[in-house]
Amino acid sequence: MTFLSATLDRVKPSPTIAVTTKAAELKAAGRDVIGLGAGEPDFDTPQNIKDAAVAAIAAGKTKYTAVDGIPELKEAICAKFSRDNDLPYEPSQVTVGTGGKQVLYNAFMATLNAGDEVIIPAPYWVSYPDMVLLAGGTPVTVEASLEANFKITAAQLEAAITPQTKWFLFNSPSNPTGAGYSWSELKELTDVLLRHPHVWIMTDDMYEHLAYGNFKFCTPAQVEPQLYDRTLTVNGVSKAYAMTGWRIGYAAGPERLIKAMRKVQSQSTSNPCSVSQHAAVEALNGTQDFLAPNNTLFERRRDLVVSMLNKAPGIVCPQPEGAFYVYPSIAGCIGKTSAAGTVIDNDEVFATALLEETGVAVVFGAAFGLSPNFRVSYATSDAALKEACERIIMFCEGLT
Ligand SMILES: Cc1ncc(COP(=O)(O)O)c(C=O)c1O
Repeated sequence: MTFLSATLDRVKPSPTIAVTTKAAELKAAGRDVIGLGAGEPDFDTPQNIKDAAVAAIAAGKTKYTAVDGIPELKEAICAKFSRDNDLPYEPSQVTVGTGGKQVLYNAFMATLNAGDEVIIPAPYWVSYPDMVLLAGGTPVTVEASLEANFKITAAQLEAAITPQTKWFLFNSPSNPTGAGYSWSELKELTDVLLRHPHVWIMTDDMYEHLAYGNFKFCTPAQVEPQLYDRTLTVNGVSKAYAMTGWRIGYAAGPERLIKAMRKVQSQSTSNPCSVSQHAAVEALNGTQDFLAPNNTLFERRRDLVVSMLNKAPGIVCPQPEGAFYVYPSIAGCIGKTSAAGTVIDNDEVFATALLEETGVAVVFGAAFGLSPNFRVSYATSDAALKEACERIIMFCEGLT
């Protein structure tokens, strides 16, 4: 009998955390490292949100709460869905968890049986396939190429659906590519889903508010209201409100599913942090004024990074619609040799050589299911981004 669970053999530790750890080690050893790996905004949580948390502590809101969220927060979430997404939900259709990550995990744990398939467009957020595996399901990836602007087509979705498909997992704007589906692009996918009533839709709208230029965010149940009864709309306060450490995510969907997710949470973590829940009420109900200036800042950084990376020989960097990531291709660097003598066989070797030779930390594409690429998070200062891009250009210019 082995001590560790066999299920654990099927999953890998998060590669994004591995990169962050390696970069931190080099920094601790005195190296000049610029980290472009982190998936969180570089600015502080807005003051009104912090004040709400302090007030909650002062008022003694420090005890267990209802397992999947206090009534005030569920009301605030319903108001948010109505205001931003034209989606009508009752509090009984809402669940709150310890980050969007727990909410997604609860949904898989509550629904997946052996043999159930989950369609995941690639490149994907690193946790999706491993969460599906941990919950006993089978991830089925569908490749969204750079040429297709990292978006899958209706024909690809149609071809991936089998009688075993339980969920289609949708994420727009996307981590790691930043790609956002327009209303008409999403409608093409929802038209396919209408024809397959056994398939449920899990949409991860975590980057909803990080949308730039003319791009307008939309979500599946809004685009196709006939899918409302089989859609779980997942969102959270982590990214838009710079609240990654507070750990609050939420979802809304059919009551039967929400109840099942609550059951999973009741036997694992119970309620998310009481103080964070009160802070999240303020995030959703309070002023949204800081969202627009933050987006202006991020959009400028995106444009800076895209224009600089496209100057690096061998790199092609498309301009995405949202989030704070770009996902350039390094197809033109494969097979070349770095200044220090490393043969760039694949994107993992590229990222390791880049870190060791220039001190720039990025996450290699294989981690996200589409190679040869790497992910840059531009949620860092303009100065750090400029310096990092200059080093990447120099690294690529040194390839022979
Ligand atoms: C696409 C996507 N979904 C969900 C999450 C998880 O968010 P949270 O920090 O709220 O758990 C992340 C975080 O990186 C993400 O990128």
